[in-house]
Amino acid sequence: MNISILKKVFLPVVLAFVMAGCAQGNKSVFTETVDAIDEAAFVKTIDGKTTGLYTMVNSNGIGAKVTNFGARIVAICVPDAQGNPVDVALGHDNLDAYTTPRGETYFGAAIGRYGNRIGAATFELDSVVYNLPTNDGRNHLHGGPKGFFDVVWDVEQVSDSKIIFTYHSPDGEMGYPGNLEVSMVYELTDDNGFRIEYTATTDKATICNLTNHSYFNLSGEGAETINDHVLMIDADKTTPVDRRLIPTGELADVVGTPFDFTTPTVIGERLDSEHPQMLYGGGYDHNWVLNNSGIKVALAATAYSTVTGIQMDVLTDQPGVQFYGGNFIDGSTTGKRGIPYGYRSGFCLETQHFPDSPNKPQFPTTTLRPGETYKHVCEYRFSVKK
Ligand code: BGC
Repeated sequence: MNISILKKVFLPVVLAFVMAGCAQGNKSVFTETVDAIDEAAFVKTIDGKTTGLYTMVNSNGIGAKVTNFGARIVAICVPDAQGNPVDVALGHDNLDAYTTPRGETYFGAAIGRYGNRIGAATFELDSVVYNLPTNDGRNHLHGGPKGFFDVVWDVEQVSDSKIIFTYHSPDGEMGYPGNLEVSMVYELTDDNGFRIEYTATTDKATICNLTNHSYFNLSGEGAETINDHVLMIDADKTTPVDRRLIPTGELADVVGTPFDFTTPTVIGERLDSEHPQMLYGGGYDHNWVLNNSGIKVALAATAYSTVTGIQMDVLTDQPGVQFYGGNFIDGSTTGKRGIPYGYRSGFCLETQHFPDSPNKPQFPTTTLRPGETYKHVCEYRFSVKK
């Protein structure tokens, strides 16, 4: 038989069989890992609402677990370079561990109404001064002591791979004006992305800056460090901060500083630098100004583990990303494999507007008015480093 006919007819058929076999195999391997988490340990009544643990699986068998308490990502299981399942998201295997008062770490959580800090916990909008509760010294952090990470979201599982979380935040909640209607679509895409699509509307002028606070360790949750990961952030500038981690309002070039991740660089390489910004943050805890700032959903950052070969691309339409290197994780909390999470054993890439924007008119605005819709896409896409 002619070789080109062989290629055209037989090869696709053989490939289809092989791929179907893999998908079946993968499905059990990857979901098995996340299925080991006991769903019953997430069922509680909080603020009169029922919490639970939900399973997401995509067409390749990639598995994730999420809870409607704080709309938190609890686990994401992806293949390493050898095809073995690795849970790359830090989290707990029971709800009590998320609700027990301790220093709040925001593992996997939805953050709102305002991601990161608002300086002196106050802002002015349309000549009205709003005072917010403090929970970070004199500042307001991640929406306040009972932000979106700490509320029970309404949940609708629309397919195996898609869940919609909604929350009505009443006028005045945590000091913010306006009834805010928030929706977040969580989806495991066919190209192995964990995609979050946020929308929000208000009935009064307000501010809005949502994000997700997942910590990742691409060597597997519980692995000792993320300092050996290689990171690229597509940003030529950061928003420098003062000692209290409030942006000064300037934009600083990354060239020649430990903040230059424009080419892939090992995270730990410059952690000992005496650059004042590194001292303020206790390491990396800063907002990078994305080169593709707010234009369309584009690649913002890429990280990979030199141990597993797992790579995570972060895509977003937001103007900034907070790269937080886990400087405040201190071993006092234990992960799903029973291993305490130590110093810098997880990192966050929180896509967002810049911290303290309501007090920095030169930053892209975070004001949301009636009739407008806040929109934000963030995708964490997993693959194996080529
Ligand atoms: C902030 C850190 C903060 C951490 C809390 C990060 O988003 O940038 O400063 O300590 O959240 O876990």
